[in-house]
Amino acid sequence: MKIKNICCIGAGYVGGPTMAVIADKCPDIQIHVVDFNKERINKWNDVDVNNLPIFEPGLAEIVERCRGKNLHFSTGINERIRKSDMVFISVNTPTKKYGLGAGKASDLKWVEACARQVANNATGHTIVVEKSTLPVRTAEVIKSILDATKKDSERSEIKTFDVLSNPEFLAEGTAINDLLYPDRVLIGGENQLSINALSDIYAKWVTKEKILQTNIWSSELAKLTANAFLAQRISSINSIGALCEATGADVREVSRAIGADSRIGSKFLDAGPGFGGSCFKKDILNLVYLSEYFGLYEVAKFWESVVTLNNWHQKRISKLITNKLFGTISGKKIIILGFAFKGNTNDTRESAAILICKDLLNEGAFLFIHDPKVSKEQIINDLGSKPYSENKKQLNSFDVKGNWEFIHDIDESFFEADAIVILTEWEEYKNINWDLAEKRMRKPAWIFDSRSLIDPEDIKKNDFNFWRIGDGS
Ligand code: NAD
Ligand code: UGA
Repeated sequence: MKIKNICCIGAGYVGGPTMAVIADKCPDIQIHVVDFNKERINKWNDVDVNNLPIFEPGLAEIVERCRGKNLHFSTGINERIRKSDMVFISVNTPTKKYGLGAGKASDLKWVEACARQVANNATGHTIVVEKSTLPVRTAEVIKSILDATKKDSERSEIKTFDVLSNPEFLAEGTAINDLLYPDRVLIGGENQLSINALSDIYAKWVTKEKILQTNIWSSELAKLTANAFLAQRISSINSIGALCEATGADVREVSRAIGADSRIGSKFLDAGPGFGGSCFKKDILNLVYLSEYFGLYEVAKFWESVVTLNNWHQKRISKLITNKLFGTISGKKIIILGFAFKGNTNDTRESAAILICKDLLNEGAFLFIHDPKVSKEQIINDLGSKPYSENKKQLNSFDVKGNWEFIHDIDESFFEADAIVILTEWEEYKNINWDLAEKRMRKPAWIFDSRSLIDPEDIKKNDFNFWRIGDGS
C-alpha cells in the first residue's frame, strides 16, 4: 500500500507543523491540510511566511520550501478527502463544557464530524489516522461511523476504511525539532498493511526502532498517560518548590540533586508558574473521567490531584505577589513579562499568565503586559477586557477592578512601576536593563521571577527586592 495523497483535517498547532515536516521529508506525497476556519487557512497561505497563524521556530522555512509544491492549505475538505488514500484527523478535542462528563470528558463533536465527512466523501480504500489526542476506544466510534456509511444502500461504490491511532508527542516551541527527531513514533492499529503504509512514511526520516507498533487501545492510552506523567512531574516539583520557600532550600538545587538519579532523569523538573498549554489539563481530566467511568475512583483521585495542585500553585503566586506588595496592589503598576504558556510559542491556551493576571486585576492592579509573540487581541480575548487606553475609563487607584495596557517597549514601562513579574521564559528577558529599571521604578521595587530566568548575581548590585520560584535561601 503506497500512499500518494494525504489530507489532514485541522490546520492547527499539530496539523500544520506535522504535515509540513512530512511534506518536506516525502516529496513524492501530495499533502493537503484542510480546515473550515477560512481565516486560519488564509494565514497559512500568506505570501509572507512570517504571518503564518502559528509561531514555531523553523516552521516558516519548511512552509516556504514546500508550499505550492507538495504542501497545500485549503478549505476544500470534501474534495481533498475524496482524493486521498490517507486522512489524518487533527482537530481540537477540548474538555466538554456541558452535558454528560462536563468539565472532564473530551468533547468529541469535531472528531465525530470529521468521521462523518470522511465517511461521506471518501472513495476506494482510505486509511483514517487519529492524530488528535483521544479517549481510549475512540477508534471504535470512528470505525462504527465509517462502517455505517459504508453500508448505506443508496451508495453503489465500494469503499473500505482502516483506522489507525498515531498520537502526536510534539511540544510547542520545539515542534519542528520534536517532529524531525522524535523519541518515538507510535502507531496503533489492527491491519498490518495499513500500519506499514504509515510506518513507511515516517521511516523516511525516523529509524525503524523508534517506530513503535501497538494495539490501537494501547496507543490511545499511551498518549494520555505520557501527558499525565509529564504534568505530574511539574506538579511534583512545584509542590517541592513551595516547600523549599518555606524551609530555606532551593528548588533548583533539589532538582539537580534528584535529576542526577538516572531513574528519575533531569528533564521536566523546572519549577515554574504552573503548567499551561491546551493539553495537560484536558488530557488528565480525560483520564480522570475514564477512570471514574470504569469505577476506578482511587485512580481518578490520584490523577485529579495533579490538576488541583497546579490550580493551587498558580493562585499561590498571585497571592504571594499581593502579599509582598504590602497586601494591597490597588492602583499599583506591575509589569508582566510574558503571556504565552511557555517560551517560543504564541499560544496562550491555559497559560498561567491568564489566571495570575486576572487575580492581580481583581485586586485592582494596573498591569503593563509584554510578550514578544502574543498579540494584544489575544490578550483581550483571554482577559475578557480591553486595555485601559481603549477603554477610555478614567484610572481610579481605589478601583476594585484593575486596568491593563499592552506594551512593546519594556524600558519605557519602568517609570514608577512597583514590580516586574516574569511569567514566560523568553530569552530576551534575560537581557533586561536592570540599572535603568532601578532608576525608573518606584521604591521599594520588587522583581518576581517565576521561571528562574534571571541570574540573581545580575541584579544584586541594584536596589531590588527579589523573589524567585522555590528559593527559600
Ligand atoms: P488547534 O485548535 O490548534 O487546531 C485544530 C483545528 O481543527 C482548528 O483550526 C479548527 O478550525 C479545525 N477543525 C475542527 N473541527 C474541524 C472540522 N470538522 N473540519 C475542519 N477543521 C476542523 O488544535 P491543536 O493544538 O492542533 O490540537 C489538535 C489535537 O492534537 C488535539 O486533540 C490536541 O490534544 C492534540 N495535540 C496537541 C498538541 C499541541 O502541542 N498543541 C500536541 C500533541 C497533541
Ligand atoms: C506537552 C508535551 O510535552 C508534549 O509531549 C505533548 O505532545 C503536548 O503537551 C500535547 O499533547 O499537547 P506542550 O504543552 O506544548 O507539550 O509544552 P511542554 O513543554 O510540555 O510544557 C507544558 C507546560 O509545562 C508549560 O506551561 C511549561 O512552561 C511547563 N513546564 C514544562 C514547567 O513548568 N516545567 C518544566 O520542567 C517543563
